[in-house]
Amino acid sequence: MIDTLLLGLAACRPDQIQTLLQFKNEFDSRGCNGSEYFKGVRCDNTTGAVTKLHLPSGCLNGILKPNSSLFGLHQLCSLDLSHNNFTSSSLPSGFGNLNRLVVLSLSSNGFIGQVPSSISNLSFLTDLNISHNELIGSFPHVWNLTKLSFLDLSHNHFSGTIPSSLLSMPFLSYLELSENYFTGSVEVPNSTSSSRLETLYLGHNHFDGQILEAVSKFITLKYLDLSFLNISYPIDLNLFSSLESLLNIDLSGTSISPVSLRSYLHFPLTMERLVLSDCDISEFPSFLKTLKNLELIDISHNKIKGKVPEWFWTLPHLIVVRLADNSLYGFEGSAEVLVNSSVQILSLASNQFKGPFPNPPRFINLLNARNNSFTGNIPLSTCNRSSFTLLILSYNNFTGPIPQCLSNFKIVKLRKNNLEGSIPDMFYVGASIQTLDFGYNQLTGKLPRSLLNCSFLQFLSVDNNIIKDTFPFWLKALPTLQVLTLSSNKFYGPISSSDQGHLVFPELRILDISHNNFGGSFPASYFVNWKALSLKMNEDGSIYMVYNKEAYKNVYYIYEDVIDLQNKGLFMEQTKVLTSYGAIDFSGNRFVGKIPESIGLLKALIALNLSNNAFTGHIPLSLENLTELESLDLSRNKLSGTIPNGLGSLSFLAYINVSHNQLKGEIPQGTQITGQSKSSFEGNAGLCGLPLEQSCFRSSVPAIQPKQKDLEEEEDKGEVLNWKAVAMGYGPGVLFGLAIAKLIASYKPEWLVKIIGAEKRKHR
Ligand SMILES: *[C@@H]1O[C@H](CO)[C@@H](O)[C@H](O)[C@H]1NC(C)=O
Ligand SMILES: *[C@@H]1O[C@H](CO)[C@@H](O)[C@H](O)[C@H]1NC(C)=O
Ligand SMILES: *[C@@H]1O[C@H](CO)[C@@H](O)[C@H](O)[C@H]1NC(C)=O
Ligand SMILES: *[C@@H]1O[C@H](CO)[C@@H](O)[C@H](O)[C@H]1NC(C)=O
Ligand SMILES: *[C@@H]1O[C@H](CO)[C@@H](O)[C@H](O)[C@H]1NC(C)=O
Ligand SMILES: *[C@@H]1O[C@H](CO)[C@@H](O)[C@H](O)[C@H]1NC(C)=O
Ligand SMILES: *[C@@H]1O[C@H](CO)[C@@H](O)[C@H](O)[C@H]1NC(C)=O
Ligand SMILES: *[C@@H]1O[C@H](CO)[C@@H](O)[C@H](O)[C@H]1NC(C)=O
Ligand SMILES: *[C@@H]1O[C@H](CO)[C@@H](O)[C@H](O)[C@H]1NC(C)=O
Ligand SMILES: *[C@@H]1O[C@H](CO)[C@@H](O)[C@H](O)[C@H]1NC(C)=O
Ligand SMILES: *[C@@H]1O[C@H](CO)[C@@H](O)[C@H](O)[C@H]1NC(C)=O
Ligand SMILES: *[C@@H]1O[C@H](CO)[C@@H](O)[C@H](O)[C@H]1NC(C)=O
Repeated sequence: MIDTLLLGLAACRPDQIQTLLQFKNEFDSRGCNGSEYFKGVRCDNTTGAVTKLHLPSGCLNGILKPNSSLFGLHQLCSLDLSHNNFTSSSLPSGFGNLNRLVVLSLSSNGFIGQVPSSISNLSFLTDLNISHNELIGSFPHVWNLTKLSFLDLSHNHFSGTIPSSLLSMPFLSYLELSENYFTGSVEVPNSTSSSRLETLYLGHNHFDGQILEAVSKFITLKYLDLSFLNISYPIDLNLFSSLESLLNIDLSGTSISPVSLRSYLHFPLTMERLVLSDCDISEFPSFLKTLKNLELIDISHNKIKGKVPEWFWTLPHLIVVRLADNSLYGFEGSAEVLVNSSVQILSLASNQFKGPFPNPPRFINLLNARNNSFTGNIPLSTCNRSSFTLLILSYNNFTGPIPQCLSNFKIVKLRKNNLEGSIPDMFYVGASIQTLDFGYNQLTGKLPRSLLNCSFLQFLSVDNNIIKDTFPFWLKALPTLQVLTLSSNKFYGPISSSDQGHLVFPELRILDISHNNFGGSFPASYFVNWKALSLKMNEDGSIYMVYNKEAYKNVYYIYEDVIDLQNKGLFMEQTKVLTSYGAIDFSGNRFVGKIPESIGLLKALIALNLSNNAFTGHIPLSLENLTELESLDLSRNKLSGTIPNGLGSLSFLAYINVSHNQLKGEIPQGTQITGQSKSSFEGNAGLCGLPLEQSCFRSSVPAIQPKQKDLEEEEDKGEVLNWKAVAMGYGPGVLFGLAIAKLIASYKPEWLVKIIGAEKRKHR
């Protein structure tokens, strides 16, 4: 190993290499191997001293100590330790010793505490990045660093005001302070004519309204973020008329005066990207007409009513348009009004658009028109747009057939419309489709066998249609299929094939075949080869199935798969798919025989529903191994024997239902089980112990036959839980609200951690 290292380190003195190794050994560096570690090292070819150290991300874990050997590398010019893990370390004042530094990046490391004042010793510094940490205190002492050009303090907990001298720094061109707690305004230097400030990101702070006036003096600005500040009054866009070079501005979360939206003058005509989301805008802003360079416009989350004006689509450079979450109800112009527009990414989601959908723009790539009231057929011209990749028309009232050309797309979501006919059997070899969601339509026929050509398919949902077919064993050939929902159709026959005994879907995480006419029994080994569900992901694993997030980040669009998954006790309406966990729902079919013992191998399961079948035999002991399980429903079968004690120790189990079986003996006692409602155990003549009233110590227990109707109603109302609503802390309605309040009151908070953690991750 040493040989390959020396190749790149030929110029380095042995003592310097020694110091580098010492530094590495101060940490848990299992995350990186030797050759990676030294890849980012450069030494001066005359002195042999280390001048550059750029560690790969994830290399070092542990506390950065004040006496770290790092601070012995006095000749360092460029140091990049970003994306490592120094969680709970303070920034040692030793950085002040590295006074040759020109570039210093310590971002995304979990550093805490204040920035030491010794940083002001680094008088050669041009680039300083300490963003994405947990740093506190007032503005760091950087205004002495006269060469500073890039400064990024974003995503920390800094507070107080911006020092007046900061903006007179002669070379400062990039200043990013977003996501902190800075207050007040900034003092404008006597002359801004020598300022080189081009980028100023101040969003998500507590600056007050005066800062707008100040900012408007920096006429060199090109990129400006003033979103979500502490400004309570409507602002006048004319404030920015002096910023003649402005290309991007984000004013989201600030109310904008209606008058300035109507004016035709006084706004920088250079503008390429304009973000006015959440700005209390109630009419379509007509000043946009003059912004001929506009590439991206975001006016989502406002109160804009009426029709989208025809001139809007003639802006010559438009690429990204976000109009989501308004009250728009139509398009001015003919059905061809969009066709010649240069728009590639268009979001119209959650408006009140009605009538037929106009022919999409010629170069459309992504279209999201979810949650409107469009009617009529999906336009035929959809099929001759060669760059069309993502089509979301869910939650509308489209009728007629599904377009024939789906192979060209990556994502197609047509959920909750009134589409008819069968799914076109037209998928060709090499089709790029990843997600297909046809749930809640009127589709008939069989699953198209040509789906086998879709080797990238991850998500297939045809639930709540009228499809009549046997179980698609053949889909097991798809190497990446993660989610398959066939529920509430007319599927029939066995799901255990006699020639192989057990089913193998290598990546399957969610299988919902509930409410069909499936039947037959399972061999005990049925689940033995379900690899994906057998692996318990660690908490850092990606929770959401995120579609090509990187690729679309720059074009201002993030797509995530969503699914409706309904279990007794869990209800995930339009919640992101949890890819680190899994769910199986076989309920409402005609399965017989024993529940396969091998179910205990699926360690990533969080929901298991086998209710309303005719399973016999005992509850498998192996269920105690499903330690992530949050919902277990075995009700309305013919299960006998006792409830395994192990179930009492499943600490995430928020819902269990074994009612209406032939179980007997004592209900295992444990916090998760005694907290359940009585109805979860009723209808088993031989069961006793809490939460039932029958004590196990009485000799003869009269079997009470509960009124089944009432119980069901109670369950439906009381136990429904919306995961996302829980994560967000509020429910979309009284019905959910009740259930959530109950859950939060009665279950372990850990249960929510996974979901809340995931929500947070998304926002980071
Ligand atoms: C070390 O990292 C390099 C580059 O990423 C890689 O090619 C090599 O296989 C790794 N070696 C070990 C032992 O992990
Ligand atoms: C040292 O590096 C500089 C620039 O990288 C190069 O011009 C010079 O020739 C090198 N000197 C030696 C002795 O390798
Ligand atoms: C740093 O100090 C600690 C004690 O605080 C000591 O254990 C450690 O060896 C020192 N490390 C170095 C590199 O000097
Ligand atoms: C970072 O380190 C802390 C403390 O050692 C640890 O708890 C955490 O899991 C680590 N995070 C990552 C992403 O490695
Ligand atoms: C600043 O740098 C000088 C060397 O130029 C050094 O002697 C001094 O200790 C440093 N100060 C701090 C606070 O690190
Ligand atoms: C700023 O620099 C001057 C001289 O360059 C020095 O005297 C002063 O101590 C520095 N201030 C801080 C806060 O380091
Ligand atoms: C600072 O680091 C963060 C995270 O590593 C990165 O996203 C950001 O672009 C960097 N800032 C600058 C100015 O390069
Ligand atoms: C700015 O002008 C004020 C008075 O007009 C003066 O007192 C102050 O010294 C000036 N500041 C600088 C940095 O020139
Ligand atoms: C926000 O502004 C109001 C006055 O407009 C002020 O009273 C309040 O303290 C400010 N909040 C913060 C967090 O700065
Ligand atoms: C679109 O452009 C074509 C060719 O430039 C033109 O013939 C057609 O009339 C245009 N359509 C609309 C609706 O403007
Ligand atoms: C959808 O369209 C059908 C028939 O076209 C109509 O009966 C139904 O009311 C519509 N539903 C909604 C929600 O608009
Ligand atoms: C639970 O898992 C362990 C280890 O995988 C296994 O040894 C044990 O037999 C399982 N328990 C049951 C009841 O299947």
